[in-house]
Amino acid sequence: MANPGDFAYLVKQQADIVRIVGEYMTLRKSGAQNFQGLCPFHQEKTPSFSVHATRQFFHCFGCGASGDVFSFVQKIENITFPESVRLIAEKLKIPLPKMRYSSPEEERQAGMRVGLIEIHERACKFFQEQLRRPEAAHAREYLASRGITPEIIAEFRMGYAPDSGFMLRDALRGQYDEALLRESGLFSWKDKEQLSVASSQMPEGSDATVPPATGNRQLATVYSRFRNRVMFPITNESGKVIAFTGRTLASDEKAGPKYLNSPETPIYSKSRVLFNLDKAKEPIRKLEYAILVEGQMDCISVYTAGFRNVIASSGTAFTELQARLLGRFSKNIVVNFDPDTAGAAAAERSLALLVSEEFQIKVLTLEAGFDPDLFIRRKGAATYGEALSHSQKYFDYLIERSRSLFPARTPEGKVKALNYLLPHIQRVPSRIVRDEWANEISHRLGIESAVLRQELRHAAGSRSASRVNAPAATALMDAERVLIRALSSQELSHSAVSEREGQDLDFEPARQAHFALSRERLHAGSAAEALIDALLVGQEQGIDPMTLPLEEEARSLLATVLMDEHEELTPELLESSIRSLRKRHGERDLEQLQRKVKELESRPDVMSKAQLAQERLRLKQAMRSGEIATTEGR
Ligand code: UTP
Ligand code: MN
Repeated sequence: MANPGDFAYLVKQQADIVRIVGEYMTLRKSGAQNFQGLCPFHQEKTPSFSVHATRQFFHCFGCGASGDVFSFVQKIENITFPESVRLIAEKLKIPLPKMRYSSPEEERQAGMRVGLIEIHERACKFFQEQLRRPEAAHAREYLASRGITPEIIAEFRMGYAPDSGFMLRDALRGQYDEALLRESGLFSWKDKEQLSVASSQMPEGSDATVPPATGNRQLATVYSRFRNRVMFPITNESGKVIAFTGRTLASDEKAGPKYLNSPETPIYSKSRVLFNLDKAKEPIRKLEYAILVEGQMDCISVYTAGFRNVIASSGTAFTELQARLLGRFSKNIVVNFDPDTAGAAAAERSLALLVSEEFQIKVLTLEAGFDPDLFIRRKGAATYGEALSHSQKYFDYLIERSRSLFPARTPEGKVKALNYLLPHIQRVPSRIVRDEWANEISHRLGIESAVLRQELRHAAGSRSASRVNAPAATALMDAERVLIRALSSQELSHSAVSEREGQDLDFEPARQAHFALSRERLHAGSAAEALIDALLVGQEQGIDPMTLPLEEEARSLLATVLMDEHEELTPELLESSIRSLRKRHGERDLEQLQRKVKELESRPDVMSKAQLAQERLRLKQAMRSGEIATTEGR
């Protein structure tokens, strides 16, 4: 997709896949050239996701996801190829040319997303300005009363949505067309002439009183969704504003919910976003754990108290997508929900999900009546830090809870406590961890461990075993390894070789291997041979090995070989590999002949038998003379 001369090619040359992937997940160096991490595209506990620094590709040995820096960004951001090029170019500050899209629809969608991001940036600035105006005195007072300083306001880009529903509209109307403003989720519509609209035409999740955009409709009354609210921008991972949440400043019921959020839009999907992740991701990575709170205000308080690895779930249950998103930075989490909501459905579901996504969970329970925000304001950051360091392992927390819910130390009490705990245990994916928990429970609740195990086995039986299996490691001959490396080396080898002093500068492993092998095309039998064959064909057509259309097994083999290059590719190594591969082929031909000879011996067909015997002799001689060279092997 990226060819010399293309803008994409230019971007790819400057992009470092390790750095770019590293912005989305934690990578650890695991070899001279490669890095490893937990795959963001499937669920796993041990890293099988690798990134190759020099060859600039990634491969997951667990789920088979594979590709270059663009495919990675496309997949993880859920965007098109042109958008991925654009995004990486922006990260690298490479000026953008006009984009080309593969279809008008794709172009329209991408254009819309760009427009919506622009509108959100404009709206964010608008709200920020509004907060500085005299009319916003009550908003500033409110924030001050909650201990929010001007610095915090600036850092979180907090703003104020004026009571007038028309100011934002008027600020944006001239520059963006109405359809786009509609899509932004920042406005509501009231038509002067109520149009009769079939409900099937309603866009999903839209307010029932707002008809969909039609070309020739009467000018509608457009007004702000957010009015008289303190505005908190919601940002994506890269820090771009994609939605808002607004806290009401009114005390009357009519003002709507305490917190009002943007609806789902083409740039905002609630289940994919974590509040404050853009600011918290680096601290989470460094500290190797995240703090999860419920509310935006809690998040801001904890963050400004110096605990920067904090994110908020914004009052709803954690989704699988959010867990995966967070898991890219750390799988250790301290959950600090309101004590009042402990046991509330959303909190329970969040914890359940984190368990099944194999997070290491601790629970921080503050005194009743204190959410993190209030706790910090009343007791200070140091006390919060102290409490944080005494967070309880989730399992201990559960046992304690079961004991306080069912305090009776009678058999019935124990059964109830056990029934409370079993579904939690059942969610644990690892059998080993489940066993540990079982021991712990029998010990702490005083239940016979055999009985408990019986119950557990029962409970565990209903777990679905849907794991991604790593492809069976295919045995590779060393010679095949070397050839695969040689054939996919391209210009890369040249610079690598010329760095070494006194080396043959004309050593081009790919060409040499090609020359040696093309005369006797391998009959693709094994996956390795199929791969070597595909690489040969790719070379003839000048296709970058990393972009060759390969079967999954072959791609995985290629990645296996390339991720593990420690030996230097020298002319001698290559030659001896070619020799031993030829030898193996000769042997295989010989074997085949021998089989035929045996078969024919049992039949009275003397002529062919004699011919075969001769063939056999010729092959043996060839092997001895070195035409099919016998190597010492490696
Ligand atoms: P809370 O009611 O505990 O509010 O809701 P809070 O965070 O303590 O808010 P303050 O301190 O009164 O300002 C917890 C979270 O649930 C979501 C918000 O994300 C909120 O922070 N929520 C709550 C809503 O989305 N809508 C609501 O109407 C209320
Ligand atoms: Mn609060």
